Amino acid sequence: QAGPLVDTFGRAVTYLRVSVTDRCDFRCVYCMSEHMTFLPKQDLLSLEELDRLCSAFVLRGVRKLRLTGGEPLVRRDVMTLFRSLSRHIESGKLDELTVTTNGSQLARYAADLAACGVKRINVSIDTLDPVKFRAITRWGELARVLEGVKAAQAAGIKVKINAVALKDVNEHEIGAMMEWAHGEGHDLSLIEVMPLGEVGEERVDQYLPLSAVREQLSERFTLTDIAYRTGGPARYVEVKETGGRLGFITPLTHNFCEGCNRVRVTCTGTLYMCLGQEDVADLRAPLRASADDALLHRAIDDAIFRKPKGHDFVIDRKTRQPAVGRHMSTTGG
Ligand code: GTP
Ligand code: 5AD
Ligand code: SF4
Repeated sequence: QAGPLVDTFGRAVTYLRVSVTDRCDFRCVYCMSEHMTFLPKQDLLSLEELDRLCSAFVLRGVRKLRLTGGEPLVRRDVMTLFRSLSRHIESGKLDELTVTTNGSQLARYAADLAACGVKRINVSIDTLDPVKFRAITRWGELARVLEGVKAAQAAGIKVKINAVALKDVNEHEIGAMMEWAHGEGHDLSLIEVMPLGEVGEERVDQYLPLSAVREQLSERFTLTDIAYRTGGPARYVEVKETGGRLGFITPLTHNFCEGCNRVRVTCTGTLYMCLGQEDVADLRAPLRASADDALLHRAIDDAIFRKPKGHDFVIDRKTRQPAVGRHMSTTGG
């Protein structure tokens, strides 16, 4: 036991994404329904338990840890978790401790994150139009998020902007967003909207293949494929006119599962071996069964053995139902 985590397809799991809360202060239309029922507090792992869980994965060769949500920065005392996990950065066991955030609390936490060894974060911004931003997030305030991004930069943290490509919504703004991001010194990653949990929006109608976006951008910009990789699913190009990097996350048009290096765990200790599959493993029971981690490691081994080859992201054109019923906020993307 305690060896590295390698699945039956020979892929080593070196990236753990941890959803520390299912709650969020926004309600992005592609992520949550407007009226969500959140988990009762007693179902959540404590910050100590989350630390123990993450540390078990670090012991098994995970080199990159990303806290997600919901919105990770709305979890009470989340900085306590960052602070304690930062010991793995200091000891050199972890290459990267990071977070994907909606940015609403960033102004408040940027300096603390930097102090915990966070060097690079991803902030979700789908549009630079405050009115559209409010429509997509249902009540988010763009100005506050942009303030957060500035605060992170001022704290010495590199910011990547994530934008989900949405047909008719931000479709015609993507070039301008890229110019803005690159002008500010941020990478930009575009994401194909994934068919997860029904959210009262027609995902079939929102879907915009990034192959089309790339074609459209190529009319105005010179895009050159580059080998730059972060350990995440994005493939990058360099944009000659802006000098910046643009990432494409294309689960639907260009599957990247053969290079998969990641699993995700939720705030209740449920391990998802793949974002686009329903199979899970419960890690909370073995975590709570004993102070010793032996049972936990056995449960992790069993789960990694079951890691599927790839996702099931399809929308049935007739029923228009997604194959994966849970919301993105459950697993944090
Ligand atoms: P970097 O470390 O900057 O590469 O970040 P990342 O792309 O790994 O993480 P981020 O949280 O920014 O996720 C960006 C998008 O990629 C989100 O929409 C995620 O849902 C999606 N994503 C991340 N990992 C996977 C994956 O394994 N499969 C699929 N289908 N999507 C993923
Ligand atoms: N499809 C694609 N990306 C999504 N995200 C949330 N829901 C979806 C979805 N259905 C993105 C967020 C954030 C990242 C963690 O996942 O915008 O950038
Ligand atoms: Fe890995 Fe599943 Fe994502 Fe494919 S969809 S890259 S198998 S987590």
